[in-house]
Amino acid sequence: MILSVEHLRIEFRTERGLSVPVRDVSFEIPERGRVALVGESGCGKSLTALALGGLVDRAKISGRIAGSPRIAYVFQNPMQSLNPVMRVGVQIQEGVSSAVQPSDFNLQSLFASVGLPPGSAEKYPCEMSGGQQQRVMIAMALAQNPDLLIADEPTTALDVTTQQEVLDLIYRLADERQTAVLLITHNLGLVARYAKSVNVMYAGEIVERGETREILSAPRHPYTQGLLAAVPRLDAPKDAPLADIAGTVPPPTDWPTGCAFHPRCKFAIPACSEAGFNGLCFRLR
Ligand SMILES: Nc1ncnc2c1ncn2[C@@H]1O[C@H](COP(=O)(O)OP(=O)(O)OP(=O)(O)O)[C@@H](O)[C@H]1O
Ligand code: SF4
Ligand SMILES: [Mg+2]
Repeated sequence: MILSVEHLRIEFRTERGLSVPVRDVSFEIPERGRVALVGESGCGKSLTALALGGLVDRAKISGRIAGSPRIAYVFQNPMQSLNPVMRVGVQIQEGVSSAVQPSDFNLQSLFASVGLPPGSAEKYPCEMSGGQQQRVMIAMALAQNPDLLIADEPTTALDVTTQQEVLDLIYRLADERQTAVLLITHNLGLVARYAKSVNVMYAGEIVERGETREILSAPRHPYTQGLLAAVPRLDAPKDAPLADIAGTVPPPTDWPTGCAFHPRCKFAIPACSEAGFNGLCFRLR
């Protein structure tokens, strides 16, 4: 195991009162693991990822994070991460401490390995396409020689074909370098293709976890079932309505009592909303 998270909880004091976007998150990342964290917007996925690297400010954080892998991130929007007035090659050189660089570090070959054409290092971010910018981010992450690469919605800003190229690239390079990957996404198609194990997150908690193949073929938690039912299917009749999970994720200042999913759950029984609810869905017991 290169990292294990136990009962992670992240609290903020906000104008609207106490906000607890991450309430109880436990999971493990094995060496060279292919792990996914999946859930709707606002479930606490990114905060969890940032906490693993000690990057959450002004929060009260409790629980235990064991293991100290070198972590590098690839985020959703490369334009927000790149400096617009600096050539990308210089940004990579400046962003990487020589202590973590492999002894044979070479910017040209790094750029070539992420599929960027010669001369790319001299470009400014605005001279590159979204896919190329994301390749720069991948190069920047790999230049840090990480043990764990956290890819947080790395392709949501890209068109579908570029998405697949970028993700295939991340996983090919991670395979070559024996790097673990934590993929954060709300796209179960990507989970099926790239992750060996998956953690399903709702309202700051992991509600179900296991081997991807098992979870996707026989989900037990109503939230996982709802996420899967909402994946559009090409073989569905044309006039079949697109399934969704009614309602939205509530704000983290205002989680419902009992099981936080109960206002949206079609299997809810009165005990699900009681304060004494023990956190484990009745359908998983
Ligand atoms: N620094 C902060 N202070 C207070 N609240 C925060 C802070 N950062 C995030 N939050 C809140 O925590 C909640 C979870 O945010 P997070 O970014 O982890 O969600 P997410 O699951 O990654 O969603 P998305 O899929 O949209 O990226 C959100 O309601 C967000 O507003
Ligand atoms: S505990 Fe109850 S409300 Fe929550 S997911 Fe399970 S059945 Fe639904
Ligand atoms: Mg996020």
